Amino acid sequence: MPNAAAVSNEILRPHLEINGESRLFGKLRVSGAKNSALVLMTAALLTEEKVKLLNLPQLTDIEGMSNILVNMGVKSSRKLGEIELQAEEINNSEPPYELVHELRASFFCIGPLLGRLGKAKIPLPGGCRIGARPVIEHIRGLKALGAVVNVEHGVVKASVPGIKRKLKGASIVFDCPSVGATETVLMAAVLAEGTSTIENAAQEPEVQDLAKMLNCMGARIRGAGGPTITVEGVESLHGCEYEVIPDRIEAGTLLIAAAITRSPLQIFPVIPKHLRAVLQKLTDCGCKIKVDQETVFIHPEEIIGVDITTQPFPGFPTDLQAPFMALLSTAKGTSVVTEKIYENRLQHVSELQRMGASIRVQGNTAVIEGVPQLSAARIVASDLRSAAAMVLASLAAKGTSRLEGLDHLDRGYENLEKKLNFAGANIKRND
Ligand code: UD1
Repeated sequence: MPNAAAVSNEILRPHLEINGESRLFGKLRVSGAKNSALVLMTAALLTEEKVKLLNLPQLTDIEGMSNILVNMGVKSSRKLGEIELQAEEINNSEPPYELVHELRASFFCIGPLLGRLGKAKIPLPGGCRIGARPVIEHIRGLKALGAVVNVEHGVVKASVPGIKRKLKGASIVFDCPSVGATETVLMAAVLAEGTSTIENAAQEPEVQDLAKMLNCMGARIRGAGGPTITVEGVESLHGCEYEVIPDRIEAGTLLIAAAITRSPLQIFPVIPKHLRAVLQKLTDCGCKIKVDQETVFIHPEEIIGVDITTQPFPGFPTDLQAPFMALLSTAKGTSVVTEKIYENRLQHVSELQRMGASIRVQGNTAVIEGVPQLSAARIVASDLRSAAAMVLASLAAKGTSRLEGLDHLDRGYENLEKKLNFAGANIKRND
């Protein structure tokens, strides 16, 4: 039997109380893209001048990255939705483990530090709950540019030999189109001597966004968004003001919220071409979708099962697999979801099952038999995107769910419950 103190601690654990059988309506605003903003912040290390980012989402991951940069000597000032970063002097190229271990994107600092200073020591971010997440491709790319890289005691130590400590342009072919490795090598190559080509590069919109900002800073990058990127190294970069793209994963999550509650909703601003795979699957499911410039109108009707396989962009994004599975749990018929990017990204299945979903898992494939109604439960999120999936499942379920693990949700969704409440949901946060 748990004692009284343990029970009261449990009650105090931060959680959301989510009323089910919600109906949503209206127009919801999408925040700036977390995965773009994080890497754009590290790109500020490449210049002595001021870099101002607009449309910055307010997230704990952004806070974490800002702390890492400040620890390196970067001046940072923030207003709502904006940050100014100035890396006039970088007095520490070795961020401490305590700051980086919770934030994988912190590893991306290695590229700009090597480009600008010719040295960096970054603790390995380590694996995470969804998979091992190696950084071999990042290291291979940096070595090709002339860096000496060793991993000792869990720290990646990289330096550029020679008096000038300058990286040299090179031709790099990635074994897999890693988003982080493409971004790391891109940021290292912009200040290298000579021309670099990256083949089998990641084509994600966040890579394009980074290349666009770097070009605004004076870099010479061509081909970002395609499989081959060419970078002509330049002597130095200057400051810039740059607006982060809308978050395609948040936009997708809100569209799925509409679908799972069978509610018509408008989502804006979006860049429709970033959402093609998701909009296609929602259409296949039975949702009517209309796109007008920066707004998506979704009108869900009967939801029917579809099959999904996660893939690099422009395929269906792994970051929306969990939310979409919540939707498919309520669909008519059978769906098959195959996770191809991460080896351990089906952890939401057991929580969805606790809510009455009928799901069988074999390896990285889940077979989902839709049920007419999910039921509210006490649930715990184990990673960022399962947290979103749990919120969506709870919106549809009968009864009031209690969701713990909010630290995951707050890493990547700005005010999710406030936005959903604005559209008619009834979610209460108990911190
Ligand atoms: C980024 C996103 C993350 C998203 C992922 C895939 C950020 C901050 N995060 O993560 O939200 O889920 O892209 O779209 O932008 N791999 C290797 N060797 C490597 C590097 C990666 O095998 O050296 C593999 C990984 O194990 C994984 C796949 O490549 O299976 C994709 O990883 P990657 O594209 O590197 O993801 P991240 O950049 O970490």
